[in-house]
Amino acid sequence: MKIMVIYDSTFGNTKTIADTIAKELGNDVQALSVSDLKENSLDGIEFLVVGSPIIAWKPSERMGMFTVATSCGWRRCASRSKLCVRP
Ligand SMILES: Cc1cc2nc3c(=O)[nH]c(=O)nc-3n(C[C@H](O)[C@H](O)[C@H](O)COP(=O)(O)O)c2cc1C
Repeated sequence: MKIMVIYDSTFGNTKTIADTIAKELGNDVQALSVSDLKENSLDGIEFLVVGSPIIAWKPSERMGMFTVATSCGWRRCASRSKLCVRP
């Protein structure tokens, strides 16, 4: 299964957790900052782990935009069996 970890991080906490999760999931699993996403970055991905700082009880603006852009609303994400991680 092709897995990817997407994270946003301003102070580094979420990046540390994202990198750790990616490492534990396997050598071929990449943790990618949402800022570094390219148009085809998610091609072929079957399982997505999403990590975001919580800012004013919401995911960060960048991650909010990403989840909307990928039609994966923050709350719906969890119910679709895609793991959402909050540091
Ligand atoms: C401006 C600001 C607002 C925040 N608001 C919340 C919040 O509403 N709820 C919460 O639990 N944490 C909140 N936090 C804490 C961050 O989610 C937490 O420090 C997170 O680990 C930061 O992630 P990062 O190091 O990857 O940037 C806030 C932090 C900042 C700087």
